[in-house]
Amino acid sequence: TRTAVVIPAAGRGVRLGPGAPKALRALNGTPMLIHAARAMAASRAVSLVVVVAPPDGAGEVKSLLDAHALPERTDFLVVPGGETRQESVKLGLDALPSDCGIVLVHDAARPLVPVDTVDAVIEAVREGAAAVVPALPLADTVKEVEPAAVPGEPEPVVATPERRRLRAVQTPQGFDRATLLRAHETVTDDVTDDASMVEQLGLPVVVVPGHEEAFKVTRPLDLVLAEAVLARRRL
Ligand code: CTP
Ligand code: MG
Repeated sequence: TRTAVVIPAAGRGVRLGPGAPKALRALNGTPMLIHAARAMAASRAVSLVVVVAPPDGAGEVKSLLDAHALPERTDFLVVPGGETRQESVKLGLDALPSDCGIVLVHDAARPLVPVDTVDAVIEAVREGAAAVVPALPLADTVKEVEPAAVPGEPEPVVATPERRRLRAVQTPQGFDRATLLRAHETVTDDVTDDASMVEQLGLPVVVVPGHEEAFKVTRPLDLVLAEAVLARRRL
């Protein structure tokens, strides 16, 4: 069976501050989305990448993919995205040909994930897991709070989950395609990752080791870190 990757890249990047949609911003001269597309195409197991572009940016994304050297063995499709990440992923899934039995979902905002992480996720799905997420232990202690009604007000702590049982989850997340489709057709709650929809179906999700370089570019400081990582790789 073929393995496809859906790259949701339709977000505006509000937390990054004013500018172009986040996926189109440059890291050391190359758009974030191109770095992410290369990271997926670097895996020999990936035969198709579906990029979910900003709703009015599908043409621009197509030209960008054409303009940058990407491996010939990988096919690329571009579809316009939606209002939420969840909608964008669904629009990407709708574009998949039926011979793709394994699907990965990878944030354009994680441009530097190493190929070994991509391959580890695919391998775990091939070995029979219906849903696989790469994740890392946390550095910070995490507290659950009662969120303040007024921003800036002190927030009461509700609980402190045991840190060694917590994991910070990354992408690419890997799925048996039928399972992910069913999750997207069934779950209507707002979620922040795809695996949680599979959890809501009552199906098992497993964790494999993530990688520090798979961090998500979210705030301005993350751009500094991403460019430093690229400079260290001398790309
Ligand atoms: N995404 C998407 N469609 C949306 C919203 C998000 O495809 N309507 C994608 C983003 O492009 C990104 C990934 O989902 O690659 C993870 O989302 P996030 O890091 O939150 O990116 P943004 O939503 O763009 O950023 P922000 O929340 O700061 O606006
Ligand atoms: Mg967002």
